Amino acid sequence: MNDQNKHEQSLDPENWDEFQDLAHKVVDDLVDYLKTVGDRPVWTALPEESKRLFEEVLPHKGSKESEVYESVKNHILPYPTNNIHPRFWSWVGGTGTPSQLIADMVISAMNSGSLGMDETASTHVELQLLSWLKTLLSYPQDSNGLLVSGGSMANLVGLAVARTHASNYDVRDEGVNIKDNSRLMFYGSVETHSCIRKAIELLGLGSKSLKLIPINDDYTVNLDLLQKAIDEDRKKGYIPACIIANVGTVNTGAIDPLIELSNIAKNEDIWLHADGAFGAITKFAKTSHHLVDGLELADSIAFDLHKWMYIQYDCGCVLIRGNHPYKETFSVIPPYIKTFERGLASGPINFSEYGVQLSRSFKALRAWMALKIEGADKYSAQIEQNIDQAKYLTRLVEDHQDLELLAPTSLNIVNFRYIAPPIKDDQLNDLNREILMRLHESGNSAPSSTLLNGSFSIRVAICNHRSRRSDFEDLVSDVVNIGQEVLK
Ligand SMILES: Cc1ncc(COP(=O)(O)O)c(C=O)c1O
Repeated sequence: MNDQNKHEQSLDPENWDEFQDLAHKVVDDLVDYLKTVGDRPVWTALPEESKRLFEEVLPHKGSKESEVYESVKNHILPYPTNNIHPRFWSWVGGTGTPSQLIADMVISAMNSGSLGMDETASTHVELQLLSWLKTLLSYPQDSNGLLVSGGSMANLVGLAVARTHASNYDVRDEGVNIKDNSRLMFYGSVETHSCIRKAIELLGLGSKSLKLIPINDDYTVNLDLLQKAIDEDRKKGYIPACIIANVGTVNTGAIDPLIELSNIAKNEDIWLHADGAFGAITKFAKTSHHLVDGLELADSIAFDLHKWMYIQYDCGCVLIRGNHPYKETFSVIPPYIKTFERGLASGPINFSEYGVQLSRSFKALRAWMALKIEGADKYSAQIEQNIDQAKYLTRLVEDHQDLELLAPTSLNIVNFRYIAPPIKDDQLNDLNREILMRLHESGNSAPSSTLLNGSFSIRVAICNHRSRRSDFEDLVSDVVNIGQEVLK
């Protein structure tokens, strides 16, 4: 090293051997952490001492890696969302798998920018993974897509292309212009996830461009009312642009009739976008895959790998049929990201032409390793197991006189409440809210909640490869016991 370089610094460890020892210890700790996850409470409130750590001011001087890791071990690791726990069923939380811990170390060490235009392994891993996902979803291989942060981003990308497709003017140049052009209309049921509204707003269409259609008793979109809405909008001079099919609604897991929606979309010549955040994964399921027949007909599919594919956060995916104006929606190639015939910048695809982001993490490696390690067949069985568990919990609820099922179980989500007399109807919401909070505080299990037709529902979303039937038996007895305790 010449003398001048000695005065320059880097952020590498001062002592690589010490760093290596610490890294080995961390791996041991984390493997233990995963192995013993079921022995700990699902939720533990952060103690004041830990909260104080998060109030410390910016550290101008650094500390030893081992000291910082001790803080992490004592104040951060014990207080997770804990979607990795066998009895976590909140929101649509995915569990992840231990093998991806290895992927994460590789991802972090490589710290690849994953641009696609770089002729590197990360590009080819992502392209291969996308091809496997298309196979699993029975989606055409000539469709295009990429990995994104999650379902919200995947939906935004899909709807952006639908907007380009439907606009009869250059919406990228002119912006959304409803003064001189007709309003583009998007349709989804009232059960459509809130991220769709956000996407429509962010695309500049305004939430008035999203028409929410009433549902049937099974929480699927009412097709007659959808057709009526499209007809009425045409009469008003609007342009029906896109139908959003819910492939597993967030509240109940209901799957809209995909083949019928595809027929309407074809007849009306409008885009069919599938929000399959978790439900698209049903396509992988060993025997229940028929529940999502017709998904492959959609013009675009948004889905998450971090939910029901058990991939570590964060990872979503969007796929768009081959003949659509995908690049036309996103492509901007200034000189600094042009590709060449040879060298580092000779990669096969510039992912920035297919989405919002330019730099991205090498998240593809997690799912790639998970699929290679587990194999697609094990995945099929695992997803089917969750569907079976939802049916099992449904039966437990139906068989219990003090519990009421609040929605049909379509997939992997079960909604129910405690109803034992003498409780009056108008007190049921408060009672079940209290039950849920006490359940969380007990650390035994973590369902979440929703409101269904005004009724507070304990909502169990099962995207968890660690849950066992006995966990659902425990949940039912805990809810009943807590219910009785609250009533006392
Ligand atoms: C049906 C549906 N769509 C979209 C989303 C948003 O996905 P993400 O949280 O990955 O952004 C969710 C999240 O639960 C969902 O259930």
